[in-house]
Amino acid sequence: MTKAAPPIRSGEPKPARPRLGAEAVFRRLLQISKALAGQLDFQTAIQAVSDELAHILPHDHLDVCILRRDQHVAYEAGAHTDWSLNERPLPVEGSPIRVVLLGQAPFLLTGDAMRDPRFHFDGAFSHPIFAEGLRSRIHVPLLVRGEIIGAFSCSSRMPDFFTDEDVPFAQHVADMLAPYFFALRVSEDTRLLAIEEAEGRAREEGLREGALRLTEELERERQRIGMDLHDLTLADLTRLSRRVDRLRAGEALEPDMLEPIASALDRCIRELREIIDDARPNVLQLFGLADGIEDFLGRALDGGGTQIAWRFRDDSEACVDVLEEPLRVALFRIVQEAVNNAAHHAEPSLIEVDLRREPCGEEAHLAIEIRDDGIGFASLQQRKRVGGIRNMQTRARLVGAHFQIARRTDGRGTLVALTLPLPPQAADRSAGEQA
Ligand SMILES: Nc1ncnc2c1ncn2[C@@H]1O[C@H](COP(=O)(O)OP(=O)(O)OP(=O)(O)O)[C@@H](O)[C@H]1O
Ligand SMILES: [Mg+2]
Repeated sequence: MTKAAPPIRSGEPKPARPRLGAEAVFRRLLQISKALAGQLDFQTAIQAVSDELAHILPHDHLDVCILRRDQHVAYEAGAHTDWSLNERPLPVEGSPIRVVLLGQAPFLLTGDAMRDPRFHFDGAFSHPIFAEGLRSRIHVPLLVRGEIIGAFSCSSRMPDFFTDEDVPFAQHVADMLAPYFFALRVSEDTRLLAIEEAEGRAREEGLREGALRLTEELERERQRIGMDLHDLTLADLTRLSRRVDRLRAGEALEPDMLEPIASALDRCIRELREIIDDARPNVLQLFGLADGIEDFLGRALDGGGTQIAWRFRDDSEACVDVLEEPLRVALFRIVQEAVNNAAHHAEPSLIEVDLRREPCGEEAHLAIEIRDDGIGFASLQQRKRVGGIRNMQTRARLVGAHFQIARRTDGRGTLVALTLPLPPQAADRSAGEQA
């Protein structure tokens, strides 16, 4: 530690403030210690200290700043400024009192922090000094077993209010507070860690349950395919085989006897194709995701008596086609379910699907939106059946995509939105093609 620089003085020396005798100070320190007892969070602890300290060290603002790695969090009494109201911890580098926090000065004392250049360097987070008119200030480190865990600061709006004589006293107060705040920091860290762990466990559990549901779904799908093959195709083929057997056995061949056989064969082929298409989106392999989606929209919504129009827009700049096949299949399945849901539940007149490549800094995202203009989606909690939606969520999480289903903001139906960070080769490839 270097020696502290001489304090900046604002004007002419003032007559010394009346000060308490050593015994009275000692009693007051005990009072502070009592006031601290039972305070279980930083904010109430600093407030309790401030109230007691006012008797022996009058101040307009008090703060305790606690280090967390290379950041710090401030707790204030007297006035609440952006030092503590800021939502995130602030970097130590930007703290006006970083020399104390970094152990480069044993303390800081100033007669007027608004003019003192030590508080105003490039990137300093010092605007609360001006906002609150904090002029005279003392800053001392909070030390626990030789380690700086933060700083204790006392400020007055009156210039030159604090003097050298106040510094040892402020350090006594800080030494008394330090173990207490250290314990609070440890308990806060433990609490945050416990929350993080619980959230991690819940995420893992959610994913495990989702994957289990998908496996069950797959199993059901297999059974359904088995039944379809058995009830439709196998039944048709068996009938056909019997007819062919009869012909083989010598039944006279009339010209119109071949017609039903040919149409039964056609039907069999059609049914088989549907079953296979359903089980595995071959079209994805043959044509890629965009064409696969367009093909599906046509098959699902054209004809068959539906009055639902559809529109497909592909601004993906071909970035989707370098994605791994399982990933494309997962995205396709999500689009399929969202479109089926819109068609079955929303009573829409139009379903729109958009595929977009969106630049995001150095990287890029694939955004997929499925919109309908139907009756709208109530919250998930109000639904009795949510299997399809849960599967969409799980599939999205398994491939690292963000999934959202909600009523459209313009109030005209439902929006399902997927965002997938693109791997570098997918982001580069389309950028290369554009160039
Ligand atoms: N686009 C939409 N518009 C209006 N309501 C919707 C829409 N999508 C889903 N819903 C509602 O959410 C419910 C849950 O959808 P989900 O896909 O989970 O189940 P499902 O379609 O009813 O059955 P499954 O998909 O398991 O065959 C639906 O029953 C429907 O009430
Ligand atoms: Mg559904």
